[in-house]
Amino acid sequence: MNAKKKVLVIGSGGREHAVIRRLKESPEIETIYALPGNAGMKNDAVCVPIGAMDLDAIVAYAVRSAMDYCVVTPDDPLAAGLVDRLEGAGIPCFGPRQNAAVIESSKVFAKDLMRRYGIPTARYEVFTDCAAALAYLKTAPMPTVIKADGLALGKGVIIAGTLPEAEAAVRAMMEDHQFGASGDRIVIEEFLEGPEVSVLAFTDGKTLVPLVSSMDHKRAGDGDTGLNTGGMGTVAPNPYYTAEVAQTCMETIFLPTIRAMVKEGRPFKGCLYFGLMVTKDGPKVIEYNCRFGDPETQVVLPLLRTDLFTVMRAVTEERLDQVQVELEPGSACCVILASAGYPSHYDKGIPIDIPDTLRSSICFAGVAEKDGQLVTNGGRVLGCVATGDTLSDAISGAYSIADAIHFENKYCRRDIGKRALAALGE
Ligand code: AMP
Ligand code: GLY
Repeated sequence: MNAKKKVLVIGSGGREHAVIRRLKESPEIETIYALPGNAGMKNDAVCVPIGAMDLDAIVAYAVRSAMDYCVVTPDDPLAAGLVDRLEGAGIPCFGPRQNAAVIESSKVFAKDLMRRYGIPTARYEVFTDCAAALAYLKTAPMPTVIKADGLALGKGVIIAGTLPEAEAAVRAMMEDHQFGASGDRIVIEEFLEGPEVSVLAFTDGKTLVPLVSSMDHKRAGDGDTGLNTGGMGTVAPNPYYTAEVAQTCMETIFLPTIRAMVKEGRPFKGCLYFGLMVTKDGPKVIEYNCRFGDPETQVVLPLLRTDLFTVMRAVTEERLDQVQVELEPGSACCVILASAGYPSHYDKGIPIDIPDTLRSSICFAGVAEKDGQLVTNGGRVLGCVATGDTLSDAISGAYSIADAIHFENKYCRRDIGKRALAALGE
């Protein structure tokens, strides 16, 4: 048998912790290194204090430390070409190359790809000129959706209910450069209605294997009120993703997308995230992400039965068709504990009190260590993850963990999974 492997995981969030947890179960891995990781991961990985965007330092470190494999999960280093750089240095990676990561880093690329290949999505127009965009708005039905072309920390999408709101959004992006160069080009698209579903899929460019579907809860407040956040909690599976919807997605969205990327000379290898809206005319693509979702990964990976490292290497080596990817039948729920005030202003450095027995059910995100004590260090502090035979078991499991953890400004939504339960008639 080959020697055991050293694996480097790039990133520092709850998603990376979920990936590391599953990799840790692999009998083939000797040590996992998290770059930069966070203080809550210390039992599971060796943290390496280098920034996830310091590409030169990452490549030098990976070569010097003789890493056998590297998993790149955040969007920024993927868009900046970290996978290309590591592969160039002889280190096999999980994650798309730069020319495929563009499916997330340019909304215009993604929309044009879907148009060229007939993949269902919202109707849209692209603008590089502010006056032309403003003129177009006068003819557009409201509400309408305005998107900055480039990466904008998840904030570059504005849903405008009225013409003045839409005009203000266009001006903020194109005249005031609120999202920097990301807003020099914008997409104005049709507003779609229906439940949203996230699907993460492994693909080696030829074969595509969807994982269990999930539902994110993006708004800060209960009942989907308040500001958009990175995600306040997730459940899996998503009850709106029926077997029929799944089949339609495979035929009209998933396979056409990976085939289109091959035709464009940009084969996609890694985890492709489909953000979908199940409309009355069938499922349509809201967005692609070139990576695992956060906090979707925290509920999707616990429902993967097959060894994650085995699947990842099959993706890298383009032999995913030879691996039987098996999923667990149950449900999972992740409740995010945030710092009160997130996503606006919030305090940091507050001690976190966690019963030791619960640590293995937590995906740590915005945490640090101060004088040997775990303290808050971000908006989304940690995710409480539970699985169960039923969705309601998983939800109550996640909330019982959430209720046993204490820090002074702890905040969480109390209704994660409520909509999914209602859809199930529970
Ligand atoms: P994105 O950053 O593309 O994920 O968009 C953020 C959120 O905006 C999505 O999760 C949807 O809830 C919403 N959204 C984006 N595009 C549309 C659309 N065309 N119609 C309705 N809602 C949308
Ligand atoms: N939860 C959405 C994302 O990861 O982009």
